Amino acid sequence: MPLLSTTPMLEAAKKEKYGIVAFNVHSFDSIYWVLETAAELKSPVILQTTVGTVQSLGAKAIADTVKAAADQYQIPIGLHLDHCTDFDVILTCIRAGYTSVMIDASMHSYEENVRRTKEVVDLALKVGVNVEAELGKVGGVEDDIVVDEKDAEKAVPSECRQFVEETGVPTLAPAIGTAHGIYKGVPDIDFDRIEQIAALVDVPLVLHGGSAVPDEDVKRCVALGMAKVNVSTELKNAYSEAIRDHFSNEPESLDPRMYLQKAKQAAKDMVQSKIRIVGSEGKAHPLYQ
Ligand code: 13P
Repeated sequence: MPLLSTTPMLEAAKKEKYGIVAFNVHSFDSIYWVLETAAELKSPVILQTTVGTVQSLGAKAIADTVKAAADQYQIPIGLHLDHCTDFDVILTCIRAGYTSVMIDASMHSYEENVRRTKEVVDLALKVGVNVEAELGKVGGVEDDIVVDEKDAEKAVPSECRQFVEETGVPTLAPAIGTAHGIYKGVPDIDFDRIEQIAALVDVPLVLHGGSAVPDEDVKRCVALGMAKVNVSTELKNAYSEAIRDHFSNEPESLDPRMYLQKAKQAAKDMVQSKIRIVGSEGKAHPLYQ
């Protein structure tokens, strides 16, 4: 199937109270593994890449690969650019065929965040591409974006409503206590805040920092209105650990198929588990099945 804008995908998820996982992919092979697993579960899915991955693999090569892979599967699939601060990279990705982009201006003042987000919304919505923006500051490390724990800031619910009204952004990622990467302790998720934001804002919400959040907490976030759940670190770690284990047991091994097969299985197990947690298994629209 052709790629879809993630706006209708996430609106359907919000309405039916399931989540859609957005998996960060870092290599061409993992694009196929994520899609293959989502198709086996008849689940909608979003693939996303950071700016670092765009720089290392190329926007056009990523989009062409995702489009070619998506042709094999009868499920709704979106391709999203994660945490981008650069308008030109956003343009490049939209031209290449991304169906969703994140403009991350959360490090700027509220007014500047509105201005930069609106600039992208005005452009992207005209060509049917979804836009995501962040309010507050999600802590942790995502590629080049590093937010120290002490600088992380939760989103203010009234500001969320004002931001969506002023920018027209169709998906919002409010910081609510999760962080990118693996937690040192237990994540301090502010469920009351999610509820307050969801009551004031009509658009689907996005949960950043989905790795290593207890399953029950992810489910609670989804039930409260978080329609998109981002997972990067856990997928990357599963893939890499499988390769590391392979070489610690077989240091002389030289056939990439041997270790990539193990990486594939580890990645597929992780994708399957996350899709089941957010409740999107079997949610591919009948049109796609
Ligand atoms: P994790 O690395 O914690 O899964 O966060 C992913 C994310 O939010 C990408 O934007």
